[in-house]
Amino acid sequence: MSSNATFLTPQAVLFDAYGTLFDVYSVASLAEQLFPGQGQALSVLWRDKQIEYTRLVTTSNDGAHYQPFSALTRAGLRYACKKFGLDLNAEREEQLMNQYRHLSAFPENKEVLRALKARGLVTGILSNGDPDMLGVAVRSAGLEGLLDHVLSVDGLRKYKTDPAAYALGPQATGLKPAQILFVSCNAWDALAATWYGYQTLWVNRYNLPFEELGTQPTRTGSSLRDVLRAFPN
Ligand code: LAC
Repeated sequence: MSSNATFLTPQAVLFDAYGTLFDVYSVASLAEQLFPGQGQALSVLWRDKQIEYTRLVTTSNDGAHYQPFSALTRAGLRYACKKFGLDLNAEREEQLMNQYRHLSAFPENKEVLRALKARGLVTGILSNGDPDMLGVAVRSAGLEGLLDHVLSVDGLRKYKTDPAAYALGPQATGLKPAQILFVSCNAWDALAATWYGYQTLWVNRYNLPFEELGTQPTRTGSSLRDVLRAFPN
């Protein structure tokens, strides 16, 4: 793990949700049962379209086309199935959407959140997800008591990487962005949070290159356990 020693010890840790605490590709096994041979590819295109749609509605016509993340998730699923020529009937769509509401949580989440709480740190989620989706995901992963804040961009009607979305963290905690460690497995999210002024940890779960736009995250790790390395013993 790389680190930048000039940063102060953070007082709060905010996590991205989808892809970071919850495994968006865990839908692949149900997708594979429904569409043999296509599950993996479907889960990847579904995710890519969902994120593309968040950008489209945020950057067009001052947000006039905003739809909540659950609606964009459904739209991304429909697009991906059409692209691959898969028969997404109403029953399959509901099965896949229901699975998305109960994504697997990455196994190290709880121990890392417990360790952060034991140190007296403020913890939270800052996510594109709408409050209902996030509530179900947090409860089904058993994380309720371990998070001080569950921040959704939905009230803003603007998705990350709009600065107003990242501003929710300082607003909720009363801290400056540089006093907060923002953790994401999504390189684009870690990059934009760094641009916003957060300390950042990019959790590179899939051994990918970082974005090639000239800015690096404060830290890079390979699992959420690397969050704990931002804090001296
Ligand atoms: C989120 C998406 C970006 O949870 O993964 O905000």
